[in-house]
Amino acid sequence: MPKKVLGVLVSGRGSNLQAIFDAISAGRLKAKIGVVISDNPQALALKRIEGFNIPTAVIEKKAYASKLQFEQAIVKELNLHHVDLVVLAGFMRILSPFVIQQFPGRIMNIHPSLLPSFPGLNPQQQALQHGVKVTGCTVHLVDEGTDSGPIILQEAVPVLDDDTPETLAGRILHVEHILYPRAVGLFCDDRITVEGRRVKIREAAEGGKL
Ligand code: GRF
Repeated sequence: MPKKVLGVLVSGRGSNLQAIFDAISAGRLKAKIGVVISDNPQALALKRIEGFNIPTAVIEKKAYASKLQFEQAIVKELNLHHVDLVVLAGFMRILSPFVIQQFPGRIMNIHPSLLPSFPGLNPQQQALQHGVKVTGCTVHLVDEGTDSGPIILQEAVPVLDDDTPETLAGRILHVEHILYPRAVGLFCDDRITVEGRRVKIREAAEGGKL
């Protein structure tokens, strides 16, 4: 099976991009990063992959007259690199239906809560405010809502009495770095099928082959 090509969309720190890159480098994830697209020229994510021969593109919203034109530029770049799976890794914008329809069932996101709890901004703070004892992270397929698409993998993380949003975010992030490459790998190995809202994961055959 040829390796699936990833298009990773970032805006900032890029630690999830790093985790995916590291999983590929270590041979744990059979995929190729075709392009990294940032809407922020200063993103640390871009620095992390410098010198590794990975195509990058900076596509800034302010360079376009409309959101549609901005998103058309992103789609063009993804298609130029023959991307199979779009991986949102700290991309701080909501994609409109136009983009989602170009890659049906082929856009993934990671969110630092156990969805459907605490979608949207500052989910760690939302978790503390609500007083939950367990939160976590969710990898899901992107649909036209906010953090509402079919769930691929989730992992729980405890909330401690003395947690601040920052300490909780750090504990969740550690788990994100394990979960996201794993979920991307399931897609790349063709092990995911979607039935309505439910994502079914096929067992890996012996030797990792289907
Ligand atoms: C992560 O917490 C992720 O769950 C959320 O945005 C953050 C991105 O962090 N969607 P990084 O840029 O991957 O370090």
